[in-house]
Amino acid sequence: MNYHIITFGCQMNVADSEWIARSLQDMGGRETSVPEAEVILVNTCSVREKPEHKLRTALGRIARETEGRKDVLVAVTGCVAQQLGENIFSCSPQVRLVAGTDTVASIPANIAWLRANPDRHLCTTGFEKDMTERPTPLTGHTGPTALVNIMQGCDNFCTYCIVPFTRGRQKSRAARAILAECQALIDQGVKDITLLGQNVNAYGKDKTGDGTSFAELLRLVAGLDPSLRLRYVTPHPKDMTPEDVAAFAEIPNLCPRLHLPMQAGADRVLKRMNRRYDSATYLALVEDLRRARPDIALSTDILVGFPGETEEEFLETMDMVRRCNFMSSFSFCYSDRPGTRASTFLDKIPQNVQLDRLQRLQALQEDLSMAWLNARTGCETTVLVEEPSPRQDENSDMVSWQGRDPYGALVHVALKDPNPAGKYVRVRISHAFRHSLQGTVLAE
Ligand code: 5AD
Ligand code: SF4
Repeated sequence: MNYHIITFGCQMNVADSEWIARSLQDMGGRETSVPEAEVILVNTCSVREKPEHKLRTALGRIARETEGRKDVLVAVTGCVAQQLGENIFSCSPQVRLVAGTDTVASIPANIAWLRANPDRHLCTTGFEKDMTERPTPLTGHTGPTALVNIMQGCDNFCTYCIVPFTRGRQKSRAARAILAECQALIDQGVKDITLLGQNVNAYGKDKTGDGTSFAELLRLVAGLDPSLRLRYVTPHPKDMTPEDVAAFAEIPNLCPRLHLPMQAGADRVLKRMNRRYDSATYLALVEDLRRARPDIALSTDILVGFPGETEEEFLETMDMVRRCNFMSSFSFCYSDRPGTRASTFLDKIPQNVQLDRLQRLQALQEDLSMAWLNARTGCETTVLVEEPSPRQDENSDMVSWQGRDPYGALVHVALKDPNPAGKYVRVRISHAFRHSLQGTVLAE
């Protein structure tokens, strides 16, 4: 069976798509381009932008590229599938499976059943009470980095956010299952694991938790292999415990990098977002983190133009970004998500004002990012080599590779080793580009 997966959205979707791909491979599947595929999955996202429009565009493209073929089965999964359910069948006659966010584990079997029953459709959008344990694929992982899901859903109900509606309530996965998956990945050569969830540091604080706290989980995973690099996304500032902060000082292989969504700098806006922290608490947390790990690199998410945000309040966000000195940030204009509380707020900000604020914020971030990268020149660091770099030097007989340093920055480095993927190399940073670094190897 030839398959193709189109993935939109966050790392949660990337991880789900990887799991589906490996399960289809276990059933004899082979990844191909769309025109050659018999099974095509569209893993959708609804957190921002125009999700239905994106889905329709993808379905239109699939219909064109597979025109005249009767054997094509399209499955729509992810957050838009969860929200629209059976309505998606009317978008394209090729769609025969609509699978919500909590039913990923049943997708491979349902695809097999639908292929055996060509006149049937299936829509699975229920929520499970527990975290459905998917069989851990013990083989088939490629590359030195991996994402490992530790929880599903979110209980926070930030007023702008669709996730609690599309992914349901928070459910933690058993520590035992997480550790088994991490060990299997390490056995396959993985050197860099990112623990994934919508609110990772609330891990275990729900009905399906097994008593293991997030900080304990970090210790357990990090302890599997001292040469492993451990990271996590995404934590919520209000759930960062002193133990989570101390972990940066105490666990040597926990990477000195944290993506800590701030969303806004003004207290009134944070309150209306239901973020449950204020700017002073956020700043104090940043200071604590820098005390625990002075070199920690922080990045963030910022939402501009939230309903009612004044120019002064936006300037407070700019000020916070400066004070926190983020090495990078993702920033977005607010967009209405149907069903969320903020979508009922009346004081919406005009699109042109939102865009103007976004551009000013992004210009500031460019400066901060550039300064962070420039400050790295001359430093020694260790790069985990991932793949050949798109930046090749025609005048060199060495191949240029790219990988990440402990801070998650992309580093290009020319190497003699013909097969360096998955290995650590010591480099000295020689140059900063706009979004990445150039290194020269110290020892191979
Ligand atoms: N509009 C704009 N940005 C949003 N995000 C979440 N919901 C919205 C929305 N309605 C952003 C937040 C979040 C990131 C994943 O997406 O900044 O942290
Ligand atoms: Fe959405 Fe807030 Fe949950 Fe993040 S913490 S997924 S922004 S509701």
